[in-house]
Amino acid sequence: MNSEITSIFDLEAMAKQRLPEVIFDYVHGGAEQQLTLERNLRDLRALALRQHDMRDVSDPKLDLTMVGQPARIPLAIGPTGLAGLTWPNGECEEARAAVEFGVPYCLSTMSICSIEDVADATGKPFWFQLYLMKKREVNESLIHRARDARCSALVLTLDLHVQGKRWADAKNGLSVPPKLGLRNMLDIGSHPGWLLSMARSRRRTFGNLEGEVQQAGNVAALSEWVEAQFDPSFDLDTVKWVRRMWDGPLILKGIMHPDDAKLAVDVGADAIIVSNHGGRQLDSAPSSISVLPQIAEAVGSRTEVLFDGGIRTGSDIVKALGRGAHACLSGRACLYGLAAEGAQGVLCALRLFEQELKDCMALVGIRDLRHVDAGVVTAQPGL
Ligand SMILES: Cc1cc2nc3c(=O)[nH]c(=O)nc-3n(C[C@H](O)[C@H](O)[C@H](O)COP(=O)(O)O)c2cc1C
Repeated sequence: MNSEITSIFDLEAMAKQRLPEVIFDYVHGGAEQQLTLERNLRDLRALALRQHDMRDVSDPKLDLTMVGQPARIPLAIGPTGLAGLTWPNGECEEARAAVEFGVPYCLSTMSICSIEDVADATGKPFWFQLYLMKKREVNESLIHRARDARCSALVLTLDLHVQGKRWADAKNGLSVPPKLGLRNMLDIGSHPGWLLSMARSRRRTFGNLEGEVQQAGNVAALSEWVEAQFDPSFDLDTVKWVRRMWDGPLILKGIMHPDDAKLAVDVGADAIIVSNHGGRQLDSAPSSISVLPQIAEAVGSRTEVLFDGGIRTGSDIVKALGRGAHACLSGRACLYGLAAEGAQGVLCALRLFEQELKDCMALVGIRDLRHVDAGVVTAQPGL
C-alpha cells in the first residue's frame, strides 16, 4: 500500500485531482441541498464506540457470509452507475479487485461495462443490481442475462421511481442528454491523464442497454431513453413479479421504513439494504444509520439486514453492525479508490477498511465481528 495513503480521504483527494470536475461532482455529490448526504456522514460520526480493555483480542475474526457468499470483511462493493467514466473499463477493474480481496461486487444496471464484460473479466460470480424499466422486455432480458452470467444475487433497487436532482450535475451538463459546452471541454482538457487513459475504454455508453434499445448507437438518445424509462408505477406487485422471475438470492435495496422492511420479508427477500441511495434520491430523508435500529428490530432474523450510506472507515462498519446490520456496502469509498488508481485503488480502499476494522475491534475489545452488538455503540451528543 502506498504509505502516503492513510485513509479513504486520501483516495478521495486523489480522485478529485485526477477526474474532470464534471465526473468528480457526479461521484461525490447528492440530491438537491445534499441534506441527506451530509446526515449520512454526520450521524455515523456522532456515534461513539465504547472502549473495553483487559480482553484477549488477538487473532481477530472479520469474515462472514453475505447472502450465503463468503466475505473477507463485512463489506460488499455497492452498485454505482457510470463507474466506467472514472477509470477505463472501471466496472471490470472494480470486480477484479473485489475477487482478489474476497468481497462481493455488485454491478449496476447503469454501468459502462456490460454484465457479460464483467463475467468475462473475472470468471467469478458477482451480484447484479436491477433498475426496473417501463419496458418489461428489457427487465426480462436483463434478468435472463444476469442468470446466464451466473450472477449470484439480484439486487433490486426500489428508490428510483424518479431520479433525484443533483444540481451540480445539471449545471455541469451531466444531465441527459450530455452537454459538451466550452466549460466542460476546458475542464476535460485540463485533465489529460484521465482523458488519455479513457481511450482504453472498450465502451462509450451504458453497456447493459446497448443491445436492448434501437437508439443505442446515439449516446444522447440512449440517455434520454433511459431517463424516460424509470418506472413510477413500480409497486409491491412489481417486486413480486421480479421474485417470480429470479429464483436466486434476491436483495431489496433502498429500504428506509420498518413497514417496507416487513413487506420485503413477506415477498421473500433474502436480504434488504437499508439505504437512502447515498443521499442521491430523496433529499431530506433521514440518515440511513438513524433508521437502521428500528428496521433491524422489525425484521429480526427473518431476512439479512445490510446497510449503506456514509461508510468511510472501519469504525463506521463496526457502528453499523452495532446498530443492527449484518454487513455493509460501500459506494463512494471504493469508487474514490477506483478513480484514484483503478483496481489498485479499490484494493487499497478494501485493505484500509480491513486494517481499520482490526484496530477498532481490538480497542472495543471484540475478537469476532459477529459479536458486535448494541452495547458497543453509544450516542455522543454534541459531535
Ligand atoms: C456515483 C454513484 C452512482 C450510484 N449508482 C447507483 C446505481 O446505479 N444503482 C444503485 O442502486 N445505487 C447507486 N448508487 C448508490 C450506492 O449503491 C449506495 O447506495 C451509496 O453510494 C451508499 O452511500 P456511500 O456512497 O456513502 O457509501 C450510486 C452512488 C453513487 C455515489
